[in-house]
Amino acid sequence: MKGSNVVAAAGFNLPHHLRILFLFFFAFHLLATCSGLKLGETCSSDNQCDAGLRCQTCAANGNTRSRCVRIQPVIPTTKMKGLPFNKYSWLTTHNSYAMMGAKSLVGSILLSPRNQEDTVTNQLNNGIRGLMLDMYDFNNGIWLCHSFGGQCYNYTAFKPAVEVLQEVGQFLSGHPSEIVTIFIEDYVTTPQGLSKVFNESGLTQYLFPVSSMPKRGGDWPIVDDMVKQNQRLLVFTSKPEKEAAEGFAYMWRYVLESQYGDDGLIPDTCRNRAESPPLNTTTMSLILENHFPTNPNNSRVCMENSLPLEASVKTCARAAGNRWPNFIAVDFYQRSDGGGTPEAVDEANGHLTCGCPNIAFCKVSLKTQRHFHSLYQNWSPIPIFLQLKYIYFCILLQVNATFGSCDIPPLAPPPPASGGEQSLFGPPLSDSAYSQRGQLQLHWLFGAILITKLLLLQF
Ligand SMILES: *[C@@H]1O[C@H](CO)[C@@H](O)[C@H](O)[C@H]1NC(C)=O
Ligand SMILES: *[C@@H]1O[C@H](CO)[C@@H](O)[C@H](O)[C@H]1NC(C)=O
Ligand SMILES: *[C@@H]1O[C@H](CO)[C@@H](O)[C@H](O)[C@H]1NC(C)=O
Ligand SMILES: *[C@@H]1O[C@H](CO)[C@@H](O)[C@H](O)[C@H]1NC(C)=O
Ligand SMILES: *[C@@H]1O[C@H](CO)[C@@H](O)[C@H](O)[C@H]1NC(C)=O
Repeated sequence: MKGSNVVAAAGFNLPHHLRILFLFFFAFHLLATCSGLKLGETCSSDNQCDAGLRCQTCAANGNTRSRCVRIQPVIPTTKMKGLPFNKYSWLTTHNSYAMMGAKSLVGSILLSPRNQEDTVTNQLNNGIRGLMLDMYDFNNGIWLCHSFGGQCYNYTAFKPAVEVLQEVGQFLSGHPSEIVTIFIEDYVTTPQGLSKVFNESGLTQYLFPVSSMPKRGGDWPIVDDMVKQNQRLLVFTSKPEKEAAEGFAYMWRYVLESQYGDDGLIPDTCRNRAESPPLNTTTMSLILENHFPTNPNNSRVCMENSLPLEASVKTCARAAGNRWPNFIAVDFYQRSDGGGTPEAVDEANGHLTCGCPNIAFCKVSLKTQRHFHSLYQNWSPIPIFLQLKYIYFCILLQVNATFGSCDIPPLAPPPPASGGEQSLFGPPLSDSAYSQRGQLQLHWLFGAILITKLLLLQF
C-alpha cells in the first residue's frame, strides 16, 4: 500500500506510543474518507451520497436542505428467503415507461403526462419489481402509450412495447434469482397481439403459467421454486378474455387492487377500484396498492411518497384484513422526503416476512453477514486472512429468525423540517438509518485498530 510508506517515513523517528497514535488516526481517517454521505446528510450532488441514495430537497414539505435520500428498497428475498411469493412486497412504478424528457419515437411532440424519471432498466436496477404498462395497437404493432378512449395517437405514443419488454428480458437473464411482475392496462385488440410481442421480446420463456396461480386464496409458490423453474415473470392483463385465449392472467382474478388517482389518496380510506373485488376478499392472495394522484405532479410527489404513503400502506393493510400490500405503485419513485417509497416497501416487507415493523428489523444472521460482507469490501487495505477471520466470526453468530422476533433500534430524534444546522453526524432520518450510522462508526473503529496493528507489523 502506497500510503503506508508515507506513514512509515513520517512516523519512523517518533517514540513508539506516538507512532501508534499517529497510525491510528491515519487509519481512521483513511477508512472514514472512503465512505460517501449517509442517509439524511447534507449534500450538493447525487454522487456524494452513498450507493442507493440520491441528493434532493422536498420543498413541498418545507424541506429545503439538500440531503441524501433513499431510492432503493431492500430486496426482501435477499434477507428473508424461502417464503411464498405473496409474502413479499415489491415497489412498483406507475406508467413505468412514461419518462421525463422522453421523445415519441414517431417523431411527434408528446403531450402525455410523465410519471417517472428514469428508464425501466434503471428502475429494475434500483429494485423496482413491478411495472405498469399501457399497451395499444398502434403503427402496425403494439406500443406503450399514455392515451385515452382506448386509442393511441402520435402525440400520446412513447415507444414500441417490445423495447421495454426487452429491457425486462435483459434484466431477468442478468439476474437469475429476481422475479418481475408486469401489469398491463390492455387496449390491444389484435388477436394474439400480446403473445406476439412477448415472443418477440424473448420474455415468453420466463412466464409464470396461469395454471400454477392459486385460485382460492392460497399461498403462491415459494420464490426459490419459481427461480429454480425459471418462472420469474408474472404478467397480468386487464382484459379477461386473454386468459383463455393467450394464457395471460386476468388481473382481478388474482390481484386485489386499491383505487387509483386522487380518490385513492384520501387519508384513512382504502377501497378497491371498481374492477377489483373488495380488498378483504379472501379468495385472492395478492394485493396491489395504488398511491399516486390523477395528474402526476413532480414537485408535490416527494411529500406524497413520504409520510402519507407510509400511512396509507397501513390503512390498506387494515382494509385488506391485515394483509400488507404485495405491490406498492407510485409515481416518481425516487422522489421523497427521506426514506420514501423504499421505506414504505421495507415496512410492508417487515410485516409480511418476519412480523416486524420493518424488514431491517427482522432478526436474522443474514443481516450481519451482509453487513460484514459490505464491510470487508470497504476494507481492501486489510489482508485476506483477516477478512476471512471476520466472516468466520459472523457465521458463528447465525441464528434462525422466528416470526415476530425483532431487532428494533432505539428511537432517534425526528428530522428537521427545513435547512439549517446539522449535527456532526447529520440528523437521523429514521431509526434504521440511525442504527446503521452507529454500526458504521464502530466498523471504522475496528478497521482503524486492525490497520494500525498491521502497519506496526511492517516496522
Ligand atoms: C403520425 O406520424 C406519422 C409518421 O411517423 C405520420 O405519417 C402520420 O401522418 C402522423 N399522423 C398524424 C395524425 O399526424
Ligand atoms: C409464441 O411462441 C410460442 C412458442 O414459444 C408459440 O407456440 C406461439 O405460437 C407463439 N405465438 C405467437 C402469436 O407467435
Ligand atoms: C369485507 O368488508 C365488508 C365491509 O366493508 C364486510 O361487509 C364483509 O363482510 C367483509 N368480508 C370479509 C370476507 O371479511
Ligand atoms: C403540484 O404541486 C404543487 C405543490 O403542492 C402545487 O403548487 C401545484 O399547483 C401542483 N401542480 C399541478 C399541476 O397540480
Ligand atoms: C434454520 O432454518 C433452516 C431452514 O428453515 C433449518 O434447516 C435449520 O435447521 C434451522 N437451524 C436452526 C439452528 O434452527
